[in-house]
Amino acid sequence: MDPHSSPFLDHGLASTTLHPLGLKVQRAEGPWLHLEGGGKLFDAISGIGVSSFGHGHPNILGALKTQMDQHLHAMVYGELMQEVQIEASQALRATLPDHLDAIYFLNSGAEAMEAAMKLAKRVTGRRRLFGVEGGYHGSTHGALSISSNEGRKSAYRPLLPDIDFLPWNEEQDLERVDATVAAVVVETVQGDAGIRIPKTSWLLALQKKCQEVGALLILDEIQCGMGRTGKPWAFAHFGLQPDIVCMGKALGGGMPIGALAASKSHMKSFAHSPALGHITTFGGHPLACAGALGALQVMEQLDWSQLEKRWCGWERALSAHPAVHHMRRLGGFMALELGHADNVERAVKAGIHHAQTEGEGAMLFWFLSVPTAFRLAPPLVGNDEDMERGLSLVLRCLDEVAG
Ligand SMILES: Cc1ncc(COP(=O)(O)O)c(C=O)c1O
Repeated sequence: MDPHSSPFLDHGLASTTLHPLGLKVQRAEGPWLHLEGGGKLFDAISGIGVSSFGHGHPNILGALKTQMDQHLHAMVYGELMQEVQIEASQALRATLPDHLDAIYFLNSGAEAMEAAMKLAKRVTGRRRLFGVEGGYHGSTHGALSISSNEGRKSAYRPLLPDIDFLPWNEEQDLERVDATVAAVVVETVQGDAGIRIPKTSWLLALQKKCQEVGALLILDEIQCGMGRTGKPWAFAHFGLQPDIVCMGKALGGGMPIGALAASKSHMKSFAHSPALGHITTFGGHPLACAGALGALQVMEQLDWSQLEKRWCGWERALSAHPAVHHMRRLGGFMALELGHADNVERAVKAGIHHAQTEGEGAMLFWFLSVPTAFRLAPPLVGNDEDMERGLSLVLRCLDEVAG
């Protein structure tokens, strides 16, 4: 038996997971992933916060098809005007506060983080950065440097210098943010740390401190943004006015994208000393921007109060299950604490097993940093019948834990 064998390598593909599920997706529609050989999975995690508007939403596919008929890549980003980028920027800015009046489209969440950290250095002329304990911001060197999980970082040191971390939700440490700091980077609601919802008072005190010392407040809304928490952007729950917002995942409607929102005056500093301060061949790709345009149109049509009613129903049903010790939720962003990593493994595996043996199961997934809990981020779009079926399939997975 080859110790390096895996369902991916056997197909000549590299993958970094130790736990490949080994399933092949044949097609996906709405909240359902249809598997080769039969069986379907209710996508209760939206591909980790990406397919938030369901798979193959007609508005998103329509925007992609329109763009495909016009053009794909035309020139490296920023040299030619491309109408779809302008439209996507307009649609995105309509969801943001007025002072965030410029968008820079990139390829991924991690790249948005890289660009945000660079922009903060350019705007302030400073180099120190603060992250927050529990934060996850991506897997490139810069994004990893500002992420806090040492277990994921130590093999790649040296990482970026001059980075320090603030404790989560604790005001007394904020005096460490002084006039040498370029920016503080924080996930508005922490995803990988197990859906940790911050105190409003802490976030506001952090913002005030940044303003006092001239440091920028960079919010990572890559996972918690685009409607996931029951508002277009999670920072609206806390009354924040960030200097830079990083976006990705669900923004592309299933296409790979990242984006920064900042003020025009801040964004201008990328264009001089040196010019081309952040460049990318494929960032702002016309198809990715078309995906974003479609996704933003779908988000605009969401009925937030109806959605909140749905998630309240999910919370009632899930938190009443005997396997669930505790539940954290903001909108459709949820974590279920099961007390032990084995219970999480049982629940996640049960979802797959049900699809293979009974024709229907639920796609659940763990967190990188919290072994005792699993995540839920169901699609924000879906009819009552599908969504009720999805909830009952998740509850079926929990039954396997209790049994
Ligand atoms: C909060 C957060 N920031 C950044 C990233 C990195 O995004 P990407 O994987 O698109 O590089 C992720 C990815 O999971 C994330 O959850």
